[in-house]
Amino acid sequence: MKTYLVTGGAGFIGSNFVKYMLEKYDDISIINLDKLTYAGNLENLDSVKDDKNYTFVHGDICDSTLVEKIFADHDIDYVVNFAAESHVDRSIREPEVFVKTNILGTVTLLNAAKNAWADGDSFKSGKKFLQVATDEVYGALGSTGFFTETTPLNPHSPYSASKASADLVVKSYYDTYKMPINITRCSNNYGPYQFPEKLIPLMINNCLNHKKLPIYGDGLNVRDWLYVEDHCKAIDIVINKGVLGEVYNVGGHNERTNIQIIETVIDYINKNVDSSVDRSLMEFVEDRKGHDRRYAIDPAKIKAELGWEPETCFEDGIVLTIEWYVKNKKWMENVTSGAYQNYYNEYYKGI
Ligand code: NAD
Ligand code: TYD
Repeated sequence: MKTYLVTGGAGFIGSNFVKYMLEKYDDISIINLDKLTYAGNLENLDSVKDDKNYTFVHGDICDSTLVEKIFADHDIDYVVNFAAESHVDRSIREPEVFVKTNILGTVTLLNAAKNAWADGDSFKSGKKFLQVATDEVYGALGSTGFFTETTPLNPHSPYSASKASADLVVKSYYDTYKMPINITRCSNNYGPYQFPEKLIPLMINNCLNHKKLPIYGDGLNVRDWLYVEDHCKAIDIVINKGVLGEVYNVGGHNERTNIQIIETVIDYINKNVDSSVDRSLMEFVEDRKGHDRRYAIDPAKIKAELGWEPETCFEDGIVLTIEWYVKNKKWMENVTSGAYQNYYNEYYKGI
């Protein structure tokens, strides 16, 4: 029985990961430590809340007393650190909390794991700290080329700078202490349960509510989109097969301009959901400050060395995603109104 400490497991990717892992393995247990910020929502975990192999802990990864207590109470084998402030626009307005959670929180987790896993000058075998990172740490590309694991880090936003700092600290624990770590750097994710401040769910939500669709700048910035379950599979593979100390880029060669994404969403909704929604909702607005032009991942290493392959192509993934939001309008209303706090109060009293 392996025990995972998953942080940020009530967020978008974390909640998909927790459910994916509990579905796939009978012989694991997961402790989910989450602060439940605006982005964390226990409704995302409804289907596993009574699973005997799942435990929720409400708290902050920066709280060293709490984090140490979790390691004292449980024999943690793997830490999977999703917990983060994750939205670039928020980081431009409020950088401090990004530095605190993304850097200091990561160090707090690293220290607790290092102390709990120490075995003389070395570490107990079978342990691993996996840092869930992002391709944004590499900065931006022009119209050609791809990010590889050896591309120098050159982040531009406070979000990506805080994530790059965390990556370097994680790497330093390997270089200095030989602590067992891996880092995964994934491209933009999309899929069910993503908070509607990010491009795809925001556009779906606005379409369904006949609101304008804000396009930053000229709309020709490029992102490399990966269906969230393919990211979860990559993390599972890196935990089980990743070579200690290594970084793995994760992406599926799905580059799209923002305008292409927005038109795809509008056209699908127009044809299948609400014919009154059309491209006239598109509205060009002021560009994001420091807006990275293009991200594109070269995933050759994780494919060749660990055998990971993305399984959901963009054409299928975007339909699954739009359909999910259409069927789960209540979820969208809850996360945008803060109503999930009531859900939390009702189901998780006393935790
Ligand atoms: P998210 O914003 O949806 O979720 C973040 C979760 O972390 C929330 O549940 C939140 O409550 C929790 N959290 C925030 N601060 C915390 C703290 N101090 N202590 C404990 N919990 C805290 O984010 P996401 O999109 O699911 O991203 C998860 C991770 O994956 C992040 O580290 C992000 O940098 C990385 N990542 C995201 C993408 C993407 O496209 N979304 C791509 C690559 C990497
Ligand atoms: P986002 O989902 O915030 O992800 P990231 O910036 O981390 O890649 O944004 C994706 C792209 O969409 C990015 O180029 C900014 C753009 N964008 C818009 O044009 N309009 C919007 O309302 C949002 C949220 C993003």
